[in-house]
This record gives sequence, C-alpha cells and structure tokens, in this order.
Amino acid sequence: MMSRMKKWYVLIATSFLSILLTGALASAQTSQVKTVWSGVYSAEQAARGKLEYAARCSRCHGASLEGTQNNGLVGKDFMERWREDNVGSLFEFVTNGMPPAQRGGGRPLIPVPEYLDILSFVFSQNDFPAGPKPLTTDGLDDIMIQYKDGPHPVPNGALVWIAGCMTGSGNSWTITGANDPLRTRSSDTKNYDEFHAAETQATGAQSYRLANIGFVGNGFKPEEHSGEKLLVKGTLVRQMDSSMRINVVAVRKVADTCKTPR
Ligand code: HEC
Repeated sequence: MMSRMKKWYVLIATSFLSILLTGALASAQTSQVKTVWSGVYSAEQAARGKLEYAARCSRCHGASLEGTQNNGLVGKDFMERWREDNVGSLFEFVTNGMPPAQRGGGRPLIPVPEYLDILSFVFSQNDFPAGPKPLTTDGLDDIMIQYKDGPHPVPNGALVWIAGCMTGSGNSWTITGANDPLRTRSSDTKNYDEFHAAETQATGAQSYRLANIGFVGNGFKPEEHSGEKLLVKGTLVRQMDSSMRINVVAVRKVADTCKTPR
C-alpha cells in the first residue's frame, strides 16, 4: 500500500501535469488557424446536401462535381480558385450568384440552410473531413480554404489587396512597406474589413510595382499621392525575378503618411 506521503506526491504531480496539458492544449488551439481540414461540417449535413446538390446544382456542375463549363467544384482547379481565401467568400459567392439565372436579387436564391448543406457536400467531395458540429453562418470568415499541407503563396493572377506607402515618380510607382498579398473577391475598395485591416496594419516587408496606375480613373493622379498610405486592389503578377507587380483596378487612400499606426 502507498504511504500517505506518496499519495500526496502522486496527486500533486498529476494535477501539475494536467494543468500543463490544458495550458498546452489551449495555446495550441488559439495559435492554430481553423481551416476546411478542421472538421467544420457534419456528415448528416453533407448527406442532405448531396440530394439538394442533385436537384439544384448538378445540371451545370455535373453529377460528380466535375463541371460542365470549366466550373468544376472538386480538385485542383477549384482549390486554385478558392485557396488562401475563407469559406465566407465562397458562401457569399454562391448565395449571391448560384444558380446564376436569378443573380443580382440581393438576397439568397435558395434557403440558407440548404446552401450550408450543399457546401458541406462539396467539402466532403473534396475530402475535407466531417466533424462533430454542423456548418453554420457563424464564423465562416474564420475558416480558411487551404491545401491539406497548409497555406501556400497566393497564386499568380489572383485578385488581391495590399496596402503600403506610395513611392516613386513619373511613370514608375511602387507600393513599399506593404503586407503579403491577400486574396479578395471584390474589385472595389468599399469592403470595411479590408479597409480597417489596411488602416491598422504595421509596415510590412513587401513591395509591389504598380502597373496600369495611370488608368484607374476618377482623375487619380499618382504624383498627388506620393508618400501616402494607399490600399490597392488588382491582379497579382509574380515576376521571374520573384518581385511582384499589381495590375491595378482600384486605389483608396488610407492615411496621409506611411507611419505605422500606434
Ligand atoms: C444554370 C447553370 C448553373 C447552376 C444551376 C448552378 N451553377 Fe454554379 N456556376 C455556373 C457557371 C456557368 C459558373 C462559372 C461562372 C461563374 O463563376 O459565374 C459557376 C460557378 C460556380 C462556383 C465557382 C466555381 C469556381 O471554380 O470557382 C461555385 C462554387 C458554384 N458555381 C456553386 C454552385 C452551387 C452550390 C449551385 C447550386 C445551388 C450552382 N452553382 C448552380 C453555372 C451554374
């Protein structure tokens, strides 16, 4: 039989261990990004979604989601169009525009729970694992779409936003001190979350040469914005020498100076 003393040691040791473990688990959870690989939908949802997909979407996207008009919803092409973006963007795209015939009404075309089921089915067909809880509209923006091995650089040709310091003269303009390119779906600069992130971000390590900056319209004159912090949207061009260029589609002033906000 264990002595009283020994029992105490064991008790103290095990509770210390469990405190350590809970601490480690909690920090692993907070530091870990939630992704489509985290089990974000339920198997029941995907089973319902299978039937709803067949009724609502398969006509144009194929019985096996292979696509009929370069619009497959599985595999590499699909992943390349959506990776490094979040499920919120995908949800917004389908609720606003799929099926396309009724696009532009400004409200979901079919009931929201059905969209969530159908997306769950699409996820299951991309081998993203099911989890204990169903996919809901809460926190969709926090679920990243990534390959299983984690994040990759945003692909060439993707629509992105960046923000940094307008630097240059004449026909040659560069945004310096900018963030890594972030994928976006809208080519205007009205998105509040993007603007707010641009406002609060610290000076980054990237720079981007601006192409087509003379053609953004609204009487935009690059020289009038020299030294300002700008939010720039456009398509990303990764060049052979690994520098980056943005084919600009929209620009918005973020601040009069390029100082890191306090
Ligand atoms: C009448 C045909 C049609 C129907 C029905 C339809 N789609 Fe589409 N879908 C398209 C076309 C065409 C495209 C590609 C052009 C575009 O993106 O607008 C597309 C694109 C998509 C994309 C983007 C694909 C990519 O590679 O990025 C998704 C996601 C999508 N559809 C989901 C759905 C879902 C979910 C449904 C059912 C609720 C649905 N669609 C019903 C025709 C259709």
